[in-house]
Amino acid sequence: MAPLKLLVLGATGPTGKLVVQRAVEFGWIVTVYGRRTLPEHAADQNIKALEGALDDPTALRTAIHGQDTIISVFGPSNPLASIDVFVPAYRFILNIMKDEGVKRIIALSTFSVYDPKDKPSITRWLLVTMLWAMVHKVWRTIIDVAAVFDTDGADLDWTLFRVGFLGNGPRSQVVEGYIGDGSLGMYLRRADIAEWCVKEAGRSEPRFIREKPGICSKTG
Ligand SMILES: NC(=O)c1ccc[n+]([C@@H]2O[C@H](COP(=O)([O-])OP(=O)(O)OC[C@H]3O[C@@H](n4cnc5c(N)ncnc54)[C@H](OP(=O)(O)O)[C@@H]3O)[C@@H](O)[C@H]2O)c1
Repeated sequence: MAPLKLLVLGATGPTGKLVVQRAVEFGWIVTVYGRRTLPEHAADQNIKALEGALDDPTALRTAIHGQDTIISVFGPSNPLASIDVFVPAYRFILNIMKDEGVKRIIALSTFSVYDPKDKPSITRWLLVTMLWAMVHKVWRTIIDVAAVFDTDGADLDWTLFRVGFLGNGPRSQVVEGYIGDGSLGMYLRRADIAEWCVKEAGRSEPRFIREKPGICSKTG
């Protein structure tokens, strides 16, 4: 089987770096696209590095053209950073994917986004209420990005996986589920995101199509 052609967005952040590393270990043809290139990516002959803004449709099209799958983990690196670009960026990305015949995208979202399969949870309510009150624009952007997938993602094989708090450490086991199901927790290691995303990207029969599952790291 030919190696998968993967585009990683948000590849310069701690999670993105792990996604790229794992995909290279899988022997895939990896392209990274962002506003800067890490020296380690520029130096790796297994990685094609392209630079451009997230709302530059021409540069995005160049990055998306010919890919099999996209993994996207970009998001606000700090609460004060400008995030206006994220909603138009996803609109461009999904519509360019349709034009270019690239069907699969696995993108990061958070538990601020509700799913009909979720059940009531006080922990989630507290977490989201804190975000809503303290960094309202971040909360709004997360909700609006999810709405872009709902409105512009028809005919695409998108998966918006939702996360809570991120942490570091070696790979562990990933639990998939929905809020309030008794098994899904709020804590997730970045290494587990990378492993989960890369495995989902490599599936011949993709799962969670046009769905918003939650994932967490197994604790205890
Ligand atoms: N930390 C947590 O507990 C937590 C919880 C829930 C969700 N998240 C989300 O999880 C994801 C991964 O988090 P992380 O801590 O591993 O990585 P991160 O440091 O938040 O990395 C964010 C990535 O997004 C890119 N990015 C941010 N703003 C951008 C902009 N305006 N234009 C272009 N690219 C932009 C960054 O590029 P540059 O390197 O160029 O800045 C970087 O590649 C992020 O989306 C984060 O928001 C984090």
